[in-house]
Amino acid sequence: MNICVVALGKIGLPLAVQFAAKGHKVIGADVNENVVGLVNAATEPFPGEHDLDVKLKETVGAGLLSATTDTTAAVAASDAVVVVVPLFVDAEGVPDFGWMDSATKAIAAGLKPGTLVSYETTLPVGTTRTRWAPMLAEGSGLTPGDDFHLVFSPERVLTGRVFADLRRYPKLVGGIDEASAKRGVEFYEAVLDFDEREDLPRPNGVWDLGTAEASELAKLAETTYRDVNIGLANQFARFADQNDIDVKKVIEACNSQPYSHIHQPGIAVGGHCIPIYPRMYLWNDPEATVVRAAREANAAMPAYAVDLLAAAYGDLDGVGVLVLGAAYRGGVKETAFSGVFGVVEALKARGAVPFVSDPMYTAEELTAHGLIPHEGQAVTAAILQADHAEYRELAAADLPDVRVLVDGRRTTDPANWAGVRRVVIGG
Ligand SMILES: NC(=O)c1ccc[n+]([C@@H]2O[C@H](COP(=O)([O-])OP(=O)(O)OC[C@H]3O[C@@H](n4cnc5c(N)ncnc54)[C@H](O)[C@@H]3O)[C@@H](O)[C@H]2O)c1
Repeated sequence: MNICVVALGKIGLPLAVQFAAKGHKVIGADVNENVVGLVNAATEPFPGEHDLDVKLKETVGAGLLSATTDTTAAVAASDAVVVVVPLFVDAEGVPDFGWMDSATKAIAAGLKPGTLVSYETTLPVGTTRTRWAPMLAEGSGLTPGDDFHLVFSPERVLTGRVFADLRRYPKLVGGIDEASAKRGVEFYEAVLDFDEREDLPRPNGVWDLGTAEASELAKLAETTYRDVNIGLANQFARFADQNDIDVKKVIEACNSQPYSHIHQPGIAVGGHCIPIYPRMYLWNDPEATVVRAAREANAAMPAYAVDLLAAAYGDLDGVGVLVLGAAYRGGVKETAFSGVFGVVEALKARGAVPFVSDPMYTAEELTAHGLIPHEGQAVTAAILQADHAEYRELAAADLPDVRVLVDGRRTTDPANWAGVRRVVIGG
């Protein structure tokens, strides 16, 4: 097959490489000339994706993968088009379709009869049928369903381990009609391989969910579930704090019974996905009170961690506080919706002077994110925000003047913090 992947980001590029590694001829289309140049030079544009470097060199070297800024021409030369251009959502959950609209118009201009278009970007329910189908029809003069096939197939992988996750998770597909779904299933069966999994109700592979809407909901539901579950864990943690209970032991005990799957409480839910998709779902379903309450509970956690610090330390006015970790989670160089911002804001609201350090970020990079890097300034309190592996070894001796540590992720080793008041969430 000739395949076009639109957007060569952290998801699109590994997908393009995967399809090419299966022997198909792939053109990646991206508006960023720098990314296109790097891909054509077989140089990975971002670090951290396992095996990407090697597979990119192999597929580009074999002439199976190339990149272009001309989406329309790439689509015109393709039997199947996979779209993974990001969609943004504001604090109220209102999606901004700007980038995706512009990509869709470029795709429409090159669309030929018989092409399959598959959207993988997480979308509000209904978007494929009510937004993309008419936009593709208008720009191409073709009739969706009759002249070209259209499906939604959510991307469920985690960056850093995309190739492994593509094998591990069933690929969900939903079409705007039966013929589209059938074509979508055939396409993904031709470009992916699946590990055998005995824990699933159906064989691992491509699963047709029946409609584009069901497939859109599946992604929003699986991610919203996690936010709601964490919201519940955070509520238990706050209650545990008031009642001198160690919530970690309680959760471990609960989860020893097969119907309990309580997640871990913590200082923040960050990243591009878990804080965002519940908002997207709420845009679809504003009556979803459970989802809304959980989102609010999780959004309040950074300020709660600062409350714990103030309760243990006393007045924070003028106090230098070190925030450990700018990344939204350990080992990932990504600050999207990171708890660091809420923690810094809550510290400033109490008159404290927050400094930030992170083993993955330089001082310049932290400054570019509006944070003040810690470069030896005096600090007498610390809050651990990201669970970087390096922090497991961190000890009181590394921060000699720190009197109170709030470990928002239970990452530090209590044995290393003798003489320092170490506070955990739900402990
Ligand atoms: N990153 C993740 O962990 C993850 C996980 C699962 C699903 N997803 C889904 O994948 C989507 C993309 O995420 P990502 O992390 O790959 O994004 P990214 O920010 O890494 O890359 C986005 C790319 O899109 C390109 N782009 C923007 N407008 C374009 C256009 N009109 N035409 C062509 N290319 C265009 C940009 O130049 C950039 O290279 C997300 O919105 C999400 O729905 C992401």
